[in-house]
Amino acid sequence: MVENRHISITVNGERKEADVEPRMLLVHFLREIAGSTGTHVGCDTTNCGACTVLLDGRAVKSCTILAVQADRRKITTIEGLSKEPGKMHPVQKSFVDNHGLQCGYCTSGMIISAYWLLKHKKNVSEQEIREAISGNLCRCTGYDNIIMSIKDAEKRMEEEGDTLEEEQAVTVRK
Ligand code: FES
Ligand code: FES
Repeated sequence: MVENRHISITVNGERKEADVEPRMLLVHFLREIAGSTGTHVGCDTTNCGACTVLLDGRAVKSCTILAVQADRRKITTIEGLSKEPGKMHPVQKSFVDNHGLQCGYCTSGMIISAYWLLKHKKNVSEQEIREAISGNLCRCTGYDNIIMSIKDAEKRMEEEGDTLEEEQAVTVRK
């Protein structure tokens, strides 16, 4: 039998420690141990993007990564996007105001992918938005409103002084 491993992951600024099976997926650590249930599981097989989170600032599918691989690293989930408790981040607010969600299952992953794009690229085109969310599937098919939400979110982030990350990496995760 494979022994459990003790790991420590910083989730939205808080350290979460546990003894886990080496096969545990990061998404299950986030939901079951860190209590970040806003991170959804749509497929468990790297297809849908519902589980997208930021790992050390980069958008990743958390069902594609083992929890042990995230040991001593930093994760941001949808719950950690806003810096002010009780206030939505501009990307979240934009999705609400532009009807960028229907059932909401894909939404946290979509928003994390959109946030990652908008933190790394200015004046995003529709094509760049489509590429950035190409790993996120919306089963309700509301892509037009999702794209409108992301375009509007760019303006809102600028207005709130939410600036680009220093590293201007424009390679978009697929
Ligand atoms: S649950 Fe991770 S990609 Fe679908
Ligand atoms: S809003 Fe329902 S899956 Fe996207």
